[in-house]
Amino acid sequence: MRHIMNALDLSVEELDKLIHLAEQIMETPEKYTECCKGKKLATCFYEPSTRTRLSFEAAMLNLGGSVLGFSSADSSSASKGESVADTIRVISSYADICAMRHPKEGAPLVASMYSSIPVINAGDGGHNHPTQTLTDLLTIKNLKGHFDHLKIGFCGDLKFGRTVHSLIDAMVRYPGVEFVLISPPELKIPDYLRKETLDENHIPYQEVSDLDAVIGDLDILYMTRVQRERFFNEEDYIRLKDSFILDTSKMKLAKEDMLVLHPLPRVNEISTEVDNDPRAVYFKQAQYGVYIRMALILTLLQIKI
Ligand code: CP
Repeated sequence: MRHIMNALDLSVEELDKLIHLAEQIMETPEKYTECCKGKKLATCFYEPSTRTRLSFEAAMLNLGGSVLGFSSADSSSASKGESVADTIRVISSYADICAMRHPKEGAPLVASMYSSIPVINAGDGGHNHPTQTLTDLLTIKNLKGHFDHLKIGFCGDLKFGRTVHSLIDAMVRYPGVEFVLISPPELKIPDYLRKETLDENHIPYQEVSDLDAVIGDLDILYMTRVQRERFFNEEDYIRLKDSFILDTSKMKLAKEDMLVLHPLPRVNEISTEVDNDPRAVYFKQAQYGVYIRMALILTLLQIKI
């Protein structure tokens, strides 16, 4: 039995296999409609979600399985003080696999220690979001064709943006990848990521605060929202929330084949006028999330086609 807590829990070879399976599912979805008949997915979401929870549920339903779960801590016995460890012990007897989102870093890892079914981290605080990373990788693979020798700009809240942390972790394993980290000084990537991931692996990167100055160099621009829910005070959030707004004038400075990704939800950081630009692929990216989660469920449940 395997759990997925971090994108790095999968080797590059396993990741390739998973992406290949997702591509096969995209090509012939009808082949997979009964693969999980009789299997149940529990979605235990202690924090709000639209895409992650619903794409997990859509994935399991597409595979012929069923879903159960809760979408907020308030609607579960966590509100009465139940621990994550006790909750997963019980859910292990109700379902075959569990996707868990929690505001506390490490909570899904704790769950995995007490679980007798595979647990997938569906986002833990400001830490990691491995299935978003798998979604991002499938998007890049399908729309760029390769992972190596890409210059990727991450823009916005790089401190609290867990999708950024997970994607940096995953991308440093490919040759020739470079990062441009675009944020206000207060929202730079955490020190541990700079030291342990970028510096130790000798990855070229620059930290800047001016998007216009660097957008023309990028192959991928990964926009993020400023994560209001992780701020200690509202004043700081208000001061920083509109630090970067991608609009058509900025897009004119970008390469013709630069892709704009965003894990969504978007607030103000991408003007809606950009949505019709063929380089804006964030809604397509959300669609890829279903296919990669189908592939992940099949893999963790060890279902062979
Ligand atoms: N990308 C993402 O995690 O979206 P949700 O918060 O809606 O799940």
